[in-house]
Amino acid sequence: MAAKIDPTRRVTLAGLAAGLTALPLGPLLALDEPGLHARALRKGLVFGCAVEARPIQADGAFRDAVLREAGLIVPTFEMKWGQTEANRGATTYDKSEAIADFATSHGLKLRGHAAIWHQNVPGWVPEALGKPDGNSIFASHVLDVVGQFRGRIAQWDVVNEAIEPKDGQPGSLRNSIFLKTQGRSYIAEAFRAARAAAPEAQLYYNDYGVEYATPYEDERRRATLALLGDLRRQRLVDGFGIQGHLKVGNNFDAERFRRFLRDVADLGVAILLTEFDVNDSRLEADVGTRDIKVADHARQFLDAALDERAVKGVVAWGLSDRYTWLNTGVFRRPDGLRSRSLPLDEDMARKPLWNAIARALDGAPVRGPK
Ligand code: G3I
Repeated sequence: MAAKIDPTRRVTLAGLAAGLTALPLGPLLALDEPGLHARALRKGLVFGCAVEARPIQADGAFRDAVLREAGLIVPTFEMKWGQTEANRGATTYDKSEAIADFATSHGLKLRGHAAIWHQNVPGWVPEALGKPDGNSIFASHVLDVVGQFRGRIAQWDVVNEAIEPKDGQPGSLRNSIFLKTQGRSYIAEAFRAARAAAPEAQLYYNDYGVEYATPYEDERRRATLALLGDLRRQRLVDGFGIQGHLKVGNNFDAERFRRFLRDVADLGVAILLTEFDVNDSRLEADVGTRDIKVADHARQFLDAALDERAVKGVVAWGLSDRYTWLNTGVFRRPDGLRSRSLPLDEDMARKPLWNAIARALDGAPVRGPK
């Protein structure tokens, strides 16, 4: 039986054809072209994606797409404290181990995300951290989760999203339960515990809000550089994860972003785009037009990012629109239409955004040996 042609895909391709001249995308790459990770490897880069255990176990089309496109995977949420120790002392790693097993059996690199994050914290933790032994509970969690995957995880997001200028704290640190109970040293303590648990792993600080040209993000970039410099002087941090949650309509200033990347690199800190996707909620409903604008926005960002040799690659926050987080909660499109934020559509077909990533990888300068 002939494959069902998804009408939106036809519109997308037609839309792309119509808009091709408006986009530095070049001709649409043939659909049997090498996958994104194969292209990344040619330049000494990596391309990966976030995955959830359930689709990896139950969705063969998604699993095949991951193997076609990615060389690295990261659990979307299964390694977070709220998932691994919902009940105090009763750690469970079954879902995260399922993802680790998939990575191992298919020769994929594995990222750890996120040992310490102010969200997805177990309900019992805030009170426990406020007790006299709170510091040892905090350190034990990092030792436990990082130690669980020792030798299998290439790099960890040890601390995620510790900066929030709106909280008015010194260093623009987020006034999280960790800052309140452990003091600002919690960040270095988390990295020390991770280093002890997995000496071979690359340790990353991960955050958002450093991609665009606004006074708020200028302050986030300043605070990030100060934090990374402090951690680097203590030889605790190896890399900075720029989440890269883009949104069409935000003001991207390539030169300002390039300067920031160079400032991070000058600290001796590697950079990885760790949660790349493109929010299209400001765009009109038409799929073809949306896909082209998403691809164009992404291309401008990726060209600037990948031109900096300290940037080691791109990890998308999902691979297919079928599982994007942008169809949930406050991030949904106001018109209720499904988001088209990722390289593959809901049927695992490559979209103009796939093309934009492929072209950006193809055009990136070759990285020397690590
Ligand atoms: O799959 C289960 C489902 O079986 C269950 O019925 C349902 C209700 O409990 O939960 C479902 O799992 C949810 C999962 O998303 C998959 O949709 C989890 O509860 C929910 O907590 C999880 O949310 C994730 C969130 O982090 C919190 O962990 C999002 O997927 C994920 O995209 C988001 O990712 C964060 C990064 O870690 C940090 N940067 C921002 C980014 C987006 O918020």
